[in-house]
Amino acid sequence: MDAGSQQADTGTAESFADALKPGTELLHGQFRIEKFLNAGGFGMTYLARDSLDRIVVIKECFPSSMCCRNNGKVMARSRQHQAEFDAVVKHFGAEARRLSKLQHNNIVGIHQVFEDNLTAYMALDFVRGRDLLDTIEDPKMTLHPRDVKGILLRCLEAVHYIHTNDVLHRDISPDNILIDGKGNPVLIDFGAAKEEATRASRALSALHVVKDGYSPHEFYIAGSTQDASSDLYSLGATFYHVLTGEAPPDSQARVSAIAADRPDPYRPVSGNFPQFEDAFLHAIDKALSVFPPDRIQSAREWIELVDTERRRSAALAQAELDRQIELSISKLVQETNKQVEADIKAQEVKQSVERKEAQRLQKLAEEQARQRKKTLDELAMLDDQTFMQEQARASQMSAERTAKQAHDELTGTGGKKRSILSRVLPFGLLRGTFRSGGRSDYL
Ligand SMILES: Nc1ncnc2c1ncn2[C@@H]1O[C@H](COP(=O)(O)OP(=O)(O)OP(=O)(O)O)[C@@H](O)[C@H]1O
Ligand SMILES: [Mg+2]
Repeated sequence: MDAGSQQADTGTAESFADALKPGTELLHGQFRIEKFLNAGGFGMTYLARDSLDRIVVIKECFPSSMCCRNNGKVMARSRQHQAEFDAVVKHFGAEARRLSKLQHNNIVGIHQVFEDNLTAYMALDFVRGRDLLDTIEDPKMTLHPRDVKGILLRCLEAVHYIHTNDVLHRDISPDNILIDGKGNPVLIDFGAAKEEATRASRALSALHVVKDGYSPHEFYIAGSTQDASSDLYSLGATFYHVLTGEAPPDSQARVSAIAADRPDPYRPVSGNFPQFEDAFLHAIDKALSVFPPDRIQSAREWIELVDTERRRSAALAQAELDRQIELSISKLVQETNKQVEADIKAQEVKQSVERKEAQRLQKLAEEQARQRKKTLDELAMLDDQTFMQEQARASQMSAERTAKQAHDELTGTGGKKRSILSRVLPFGLLRGTFRSGGRSDYL
């Protein structure tokens, strides 16, 4: 649907009884509705003008299965619907606030989230262009394979960005990709987007969004595991449509066929579109595998499969990385070897120093022993000499005493007492007293 041309031709807009009428003001006149665009499961889409007279797109939270409009206000259809309706409005506002933090060239910009008429709204950038569905259905439009590949790669960049921010789009299809005036794809309609944590919400599962042909089989099962490969299945289906002119067979029909041992009704694009590279076609078939583990697992993986240039530079970057790693490893090995050599050398030096020190100590001990022995020998020699001298002195004294005694006897003078003493003290006792270190005071 070309929202821009609808703006010029208000008469063609599909009317919807509960839609806000042109001229309705929102947020105290900050926005003025120009035209109703569409009604989906979660809400209604309008073209509007903001206070600066710029065209914006307004999405109104209006889950028609559980609410209706009364005097402009949005109310739950019945008391039983109240809790569900409140939960959806709360989720819509929270989701819009979270999405407003996502900023990417290929994702529609949200510039305001607000509440009015007892429901929630978001104001989005108006993308001047037409959606991909219109583009491929227009017989006057032919997309060159180069353009198709360019659009796919930019969509993959956007999908990679939302997935790395923990958001699944859950409603990727040709009518939710707008192509702006410069041929850039812009992903819209995050109404069904869910953060992992909110998947279990019962109120939201009541609004379970499925689009036959584009939704993988897990989207049909409440509470099933949904991951990046689920969005990539939808993107594969979108580009299958771009190539073949129609959506692939409904995933539930495919599962039933496989379960009943019948052939998968899916007809691969590989080998059927020679104007496209094999890698490009093969990636679409892989993304559209029925069972999640067989699919492409991430947008990044798909980009590398398809983008020859990027694949080449990724391979070069990897080779360079490998080379750097190899260089680092060989440098590390060299440094380790050097360190080991240095350690061995240091150990050898230490051992040699220790050996020399031991030898020095050994020599010192030997020298000390030699010195001690020499000293003892000298002392012994000295002792012998002293003994000899003492003996000589004692003999001399004895001779003198004998001579004196003889003299005294001859002259008849005293000294008897002394003479007796010299006879009583044996000579050997005098010598022993000296040798045992005692004093020879007996004399
Ligand atoms: N930001 C936008 N700029 C221009 N046109 C837009 C923009 N957003 C939506 N539209 C137009 O409005 C149409 C409907 O909008 P959208 O896809 O957001 O809602 P939906 O599919 O009707 O609802 P739901 O959210 O329930 O799936 C689109 O097909 C597109 O033509
Ligand atoms: Mg839509």
